[in-house]
Amino acid sequence: MIAGEQRVRVELGDARSYDVVIGGDAVAAVQGLGARTYAVVFDYAVAELAERIITALGDRCVMTYGVESGEDIKSVAIAQELWDLMAEARVDRDAVLVAIGGGTVTDLGGFAAATYARGIKWCAIPTTLLAAVDAAVGGKTAINLYAGKNLVGVIHHPAFVAIDPAVFATLDERDLAAGLAEAVKTACVADPELFDELERELPRALACDPDVLATIVARCVAAKARIVGLDEHDRTDVRAVLNFGHTVGHALENTCGYGELRHGEAVALGMRVALALSRTRGLAAGDAARIDALIRSVPVPDLGDVDVDAVIAATASDKKRKEGRVRFILLRGIGVTSIVDDVDEAELREAMRALT
Ligand SMILES: NC(=O)c1ccc[n+]([C@@H]2O[C@H](COP(=O)([O-])OP(=O)(O)OC[C@H]3O[C@@H](n4cnc5c(N)ncnc54)[C@H](O)[C@@H]3O)[C@@H](O)[C@H]2O)c1
Ligand SMILES: [Zn+2]
Repeated sequence: MIAGEQRVRVELGDARSYDVVIGGDAVAAVQGLGARTYAVVFDYAVAELAERIITALGDRCVMTYGVESGEDIKSVAIAQELWDLMAEARVDRDAVLVAIGGGTVTDLGGFAAATYARGIKWCAIPTTLLAAVDAAVGGKTAINLYAGKNLVGVIHHPAFVAIDPAVFATLDERDLAAGLAEAVKTACVADPELFDELERELPRALACDPDVLATIVARCVAAKARIVGLDEHDRTDVRAVLNFGHTVGHALENTCGYGELRHGEAVALGMRVALALSRTRGLAAGDAARIDALIRSVPVPDLGDVDVDAVIAATASDKKRKEGRVRFILLRGIGVTSIVDDVDEAELREAMRALT
């Protein structure tokens, strides 16, 4: 039994501000939006939850679209199918799109909502831990191109986010670990108290204890809300700290083939490299040891022999580079970050040894 409902506000300084509700009644929350028509995009893996919401909406739900989620649904082809279906179903400008699923579904659903009819409202019901702690909060929506992930996208915040930690019970253990990797990331860059909590509670979290997961989700959402409130459009480097572990993480996803490695797993591995770089740039040994232990307590698949050259080449084309230079988020302590853009190939190659 989860202890009560927790509510975190994402404060954007205007009417777009919204609540993230953890442990509340998602069905009532969707109905509470009071739209005349709804479109529901859902992952078949959570068809039962989607069915409850669709049934509760009755004939106000004019379109449903089920997906087998994964990176390949974040495509122009699927977005186009969604736009066409919405148009056929006469989803109007006052409608709400409800996205129920993991990060791929909330990214796709949010993107379709952001672009259809120049933007309709949407709400996110994240059902993976990764989507709850990260993807569904903050308004970033995107689809992928062959050239790279998330290359076409918009910032379009949901009207609200409803998270029921009980839904994580059916997650595959790799997906649970992937979500915890993003939680570890958030703790490292923004929340020393969450870091302490994860040090104590990671085993219970890996065992899918709903109370522990609810606490972790609430803290991650609060940290992300704080950061997004300060730098909604990722322009002042405040939001950039959430990319800790992502420079090499994205390169690993790219070189291992999307789908082989979960996004969160790639981030867990990328954090090892970013930590090694942080160490050479002066992170104190005591902090480094604690951070290393926490990162390594998140299970990741054995990569076998990593093609270091390919990962270095993919890192060099990271889309987050600025003025042609690849940027790394490093740690100067737990919750203290710095951003560097002068890591040369030799230093990176050395840090990559942390992957094994
Ligand atoms: N927009 C952002 O700010 C942001 C931030 C981080 C990650 N992302 C994106 O999120 C995506 C990754 O998200 P993800 O890891 O949730 O992937 P995902 O959506 O593919 O879900 C992972 C797996 O979990 C299954 N699943 C979902 N809910 C389930 C449940 N309750 N029980 C059992 N199985 C369930 C799915 O069917 C899928 O097989 C990536 O595309 C990444 O780029 C976006
Ligand atoms: Zn991420």
